[in-house]
Amino acid sequence: MTATQTLGRAVGPLVPAFAVLGFFVWFSNWIPQTRWEPPRARTIGAQMSPADLARVGAGLVRERGCLTCHTVEPGAGVKGQGRGPNLAGLATRRAAGVPGGPPNLVTYLTQSLYEPGGYLVEGYANIMPASYRPPSKLTYEEMTAVVNYLMSLGGTPTVKVGDLPRLPAELSQPVAVASPVVAKSGTSATAAMALLEKHNCMTCHSLKKGEVLVGPPFDPVALRANAKARGLSLDAYLMESIVAPSAFVQGDFKPDLMPEDYAKDLTAGQLHTIVIYLAALEPKP
Ligand code: HEC
Ligand code: HEC
Repeated sequence: MTATQTLGRAVGPLVPAFAVLGFFVWFSNWIPQTRWEPPRARTIGAQMSPADLARVGAGLVRERGCLTCHTVEPGAGVKGQGRGPNLAGLATRRAAGVPGGPPNLVTYLTQSLYEPGGYLVEGYANIMPASYRPPSKLTYEEMTAVVNYLMSLGGTPTVKVGDLPRLPAELSQPVAVASPVVAKSGTSATAAMALLEKHNCMTCHSLKKGEVLVGPPFDPVALRANAKARGLSLDAYLMESIVAPSAFVQGDFKPDLMPEDYAKDLTAGQLHTIVIYLAALEPKP
């Protein structure tokens, strides 16, 4: 059975999902404002029209780091800024899906978000992280909103909450080991440190508070402040800092010091491991 067939069969019950969503809305109102939260949390209701969902999706695509790699500008050419395809006109271009892959727009978009490596657009590296992982961390409802937004790029949004297949269990498995709790101590922290060493990150960045090498130290407080200033979630900011360093330059540093080619050198899994690790760093006294 192919992954796409699995996706088609994986439609799950809706009610528990909304109970969970309701809980998070309550919970996020309850936690003190000093704690970091992703910008403007949104509630997505079951009765929302595809057009309204598309509007929410547009905001999510901006805030959760998709535009680190993608452009949505009709005049910018198919390659956009170069790291990922220009998404302008996507719905027209992919109306019949892709040859040998999902045969229509909705299943193609669903696969693009759940399993970006399932069909690689020609000429690009396999660097797009699955959308339920960092930096985007889209919930099922958010993914539905994003699919509607993508359908609106040259087409008409048609999908309601509950129409799309849920994430198949076998796809979500590998993320379980990469939770922030494990990242602090377990094997994924070791894996992350090995990557940071191998790719020379530690020649420019220190883990010691206040120690400036060529670049700023990895300081959880500064990282959160910079993410907020940039209007991105912490994960999305970290991803952007790695694959597109010149998009946002910290005041005291020159823009061209950090290499620009990490988007090519690191795989989606490696980016994921690094982002999880840096996001889980805790402030030191
Ligand atoms: C780290 C860079 C990166 C990020 C972040 C990223 N993408 Fe991608 N994306 C790519 C690349 C590279 C491709 C082409 C290779 C492939 O098919 O995976 C791609 C392909 C796609 C495609 C298929 C495009 C086509 O022309 O068929 C869609 C749709 C898409 N991405 C949507 C998204 C959305 C939505 C997000 C945010 C939730 C996102 N991407 C985040 C790099 C990225
Ligand atoms: C040659 C030096 C150099 C290397 C190598 C390097 N960086 Fe950087 N990095 C910088 C500089 C300088 C800045 C600050 C200027 C900017 O934002 O581009 C920076 C900024 C950052 C930021 C944002 C920091 C903040 O406080 O907002 C992150 C995150 C980051 N780098 C991660 C990495 C990772 C991960 C690697 C390895 C994969 C890496 N860097 C490799 C020089 C480097």
